[in-house]
Amino acid sequence: MRTALALLLIASPAFAQQAADTVAPEGVTGFVPDAPAPVVATDWMVAAANPLASEAGARVLREGGTAADAMVAVQAVLGLVEPQSSGLGGGAFLVWYDAATGELTTLDGRETAPATATPTMFQVDGEPMGFFDAVVGGLSVGTPGTPMLMEEAHRRWGRANWGGLFDEAITLAADGFTVSPRLATLVANDAERLSVAPATAAYFLPGGTPIAEGDTLLNAAYADTLRGLAAEGTDAFYTGEVAEGIVATIRSAALPGRMSLDDLADYRVIERPAICAPYRGAEVCGMGPPSSGALTVGQILALIEPYDIAALGPDSPEAWRLIGDASRLAFADRGRYMADSDFVPMPKLLDPAYLSDRAALLSGDDALPEVAPGSPPWDHAALDLADDVSLELPSTSHISIVDSYGNALSMTTTIENGFGSRLLAPGGFLLNNELTDFSFRTHTDGVPIANRIEPRKRPRSSMSPTIVMQDGVPSLVIGSPGGSRIIGYVAKTIIAHMDWGMDVQQAIALPHLVNRFGTYDLEEGTAAEGFAEALTALGYETNVRGLTSGLHAIAIDGDTLSGGADPRREGVAIGN
Ligand code: GLY
Repeated sequence: MRTALALLLIASPAFAQQAADTVAPEGVTGFVPDAPAPVVATDWMVAAANPLASEAGARVLREGGTAADAMVAVQAVLGLVEPQSSGLGGGAFLVWYDAATGELTTLDGRETAPATATPTMFQVDGEPMGFFDAVVGGLSVGTPGTPMLMEEAHRRWGRANWGGLFDEAITLAADGFTVSPRLATLVANDAERLSVAPATAAYFLPGGTPIAEGDTLLNAAYADTLRGLAAEGTDAFYTGEVAEGIVATIRSAALPGRMSLDDLADYRVIERPAICAPYRGAEVCGMGPPSSGALTVGQILALIEPYDIAALGPDSPEAWRLIGDASRLAFADRGRYMADSDFVPMPKLLDPAYLSDRAALLSGDDALPEVAPGSPPWDHAALDLADDVSLELPSTSHISIVDSYGNALSMTTTIENGFGSRLLAPGGFLLNNELTDFSFRTHTDGVPIANRIEPRKRPRSSMSPTIVMQDGVPSLVIGSPGGSRIIGYVAKTIIAHMDWGMDVQQAIALPHLVNRFGTYDLEEGTAAEGFAEALTALGYETNVRGLTSGLHAIAIDGDTLSGGADPRREGVAIGN
């Protein structure tokens, strides 16, 4: 029995489109880019954010390891070579397709608020702190989940020897790795905040100078932490010297945090049912609360399904009006209702009749003048909730893997902001700032906010690790970093692949147009900028800006695996 919650939409008649809508706006040429061909293989594939990490995963897969084994190796290397995005000090969500059983499982390794957290801990004199005032220091650090998620995935689905999965990362940490252009740039850009904590400054800004592209960087402390994990499992992380180092770092920071040794010792990975939304005959499956990912991606796709997006094509402002307003409607529900469902009841956000009514709102010609949360069916309809105002800035990393046994893994992994809390633990890894994904306000006009902070609650996420299932087997494994824009990046790439027939690399490379709350973000330096006039005429405010997704995807068609890595970052797909 599949654990996925398959939620079927009532078929609704397609709303008519006008032929003129399919015409590209003046000035938009070459919107569909000439991307390189995807990496094609038949046995296994790994796509991750850094070549050294993908190589580590490829070695495991080549030697007969599973996707879970390979993920452990990939994550261990990412924590070293892409430390700003993910690592042992962070959290992750994993979606697993098991070829032997046909089941989908999701694991929640999200960071957790300490037992002593309070709803007002990010307020001063009753007002929310400035975002970065809260991020930098110990207060923002949630109890990490990534190490236990790695262990749990290996325990359930691994075949390789656990200890050996850390070999590559230990060697790179002990002997040194070459600093990539992206890491060097991000360190230079963040030098002021990185200089706040002495250990962090000593590592990233030795002698006061930012590490540079091409430097060889060693991390002996990280090598020691990995040796401990390899030999003893995660007890070596959640108890003992490493745990004591985490707590001491948090408690002695300029803005001290509240995590205790008990918080670390009590941490647990939680298995949750996958959330699946039907789309064009497939099921788009991913991570449910505390992530808003699968519900919001699922709502966007459900709201556009009655419209003929394929016929409109990627050049059409009308297609982007439908996608943009579907996204606005979905984000309105996200802001009102989505949070850790172990703490707050949630309505039926993928209810077919509800989504059909919401989809009908898109049948006009112009941008919706106003967008508000809907009233999905709910046993707690009397419970009043106010909209969340939490801010999520882009960072994070995504890993997609298919192994030679046919298993598929989609995992999005994070320390939240770039370089997280900016605190480097004595174990050689950065600590997350995930608690700032909670709402800093607890109420609006006396009405509670679902994503408010509570002890041992998990902050709402946008991470959207996804596996698209077609006829009961995976057809696309995908995910991205990017804060709350992750949802738009993943939805766009699924639409480009499924509706517009793009191969996975082209779908990833297609310029981004992302709408969360009304303003239409158009990807700077791409043909997406050419949509500004047409979208303004439809009633949107547009905003040209960098949109640095980090999509990694594997399309599966019979025995053929096609891997794509985002040209906006440094990742690669490797297959055999
Ligand atoms: N902190 C990024 C996310 O969880 O969506």
